Amino acid sequence: MNDNTVHLHERVKKILYSLTGITLAENKDIMIANRLHKLRRDTRFNGDLEDLLDAIEKGSNTTEFINSFTTNKTHFFRECFHFEDLRDRILPTFAKSGQQIKMYCSASSTGEEPYSMAMTVMEARETLGRSLNATIIATDIDTNVLQYAANGVYRFSKSSKEFPSWIKPQKYFKRRVEKNLANEEILIKVKDELKKMITFKIMNLNDSSYPYNKNEFDVIFCRNVLIYFSVEDQNKILKKLFSHLKIGGTLYLGHSENPHDLINYVQRAGQNIFIKTKDIY
Ligand SMILES: C[S@@+](CC[C@H](N)C(=O)[O-])C[C@H]1O[C@@H](n2cnc3c(N)ncnc32)[C@H](O)[C@@H]1O
Repeated sequence: MNDNTVHLHERVKKILYSLTGITLAENKDIMIANRLHKLRRDTRFNGDLEDLLDAIEKGSNTTEFINSFTTNKTHFFRECFHFEDLRDRILPTFAKSGQQIKMYCSASSTGEEPYSMAMTVMEARETLGRSLNATIIATDIDTNVLQYAANGVYRFSKSSKEFPSWIKPQKYFKRRVEKNLANEEILIKVKDELKKMITFKIMNLNDSSYPYNKNEFDVIFCRNVLIYFSVEDQNKILKKLFSHLKIGGTLYLGHSENPHDLINYVQRAGQNIFIKTKDIY
């Protein structure tokens, strides 16, 4: 890489960090180059890449810039044992008390995670009764994935095994017919009953505070997003999220993430499952 490219990539990292808090690792040069060129094509920007970054720094195309540098990999029932824990340990208590369960999905990407939470509730309702009521707030910083999630149309290969055996997808999705589908593909659309449980909103985890009440949520999913932040920033995000979790509420983290400074304020209930035992003052 020549000096100009090194300088360009350092600028990208700096801008991305200031807008999102995301820290790009050292080995991401090919990814940065590809995404930057694609951004210039998509925005039909007339100028070189340095000019493009100048414009972004001045406030134009920031949404497109953020959207092109997020990584949105996700799937239905990812780390399925978290949904099983929700179904078996948490939901029965709420069905019994009749109290509504408030859940927060803090990096919802294209929607598979919050829809999996909602399907878990619907499935549990069949055995626990209709007194089980839930609301889910699902947020992400990327406007493209939020729109995709709200639309709720997913493309699958017929042979894919996205759903665990205890979920019958035909209960929650309508099959859609489209001319351009490949032989192996099916298209499914989330039914309204599932959608109604979820509110999708834009939110930046890097914001200094979040628009929720203290101890508002019974459950928070924060999975496979902390890995994009420095340890210092992971701690800041975790503490902010934690202040919105009720005592006795549950925090789910991704498989390679850890609770850092929260460790003395939680009790471990399973693999990356943490119950809040006290507030941090
Ligand atoms: C790899 S996906 C994880 C999706 C899902 N939680 C899962 O575990 O399957 C990470 C998501 O975090 C979002 N993200 C990254 N930085 C963010 C930030 N500062 N605020 C909110 N969301 C962010 C990305 O847009 C992306 O959709």
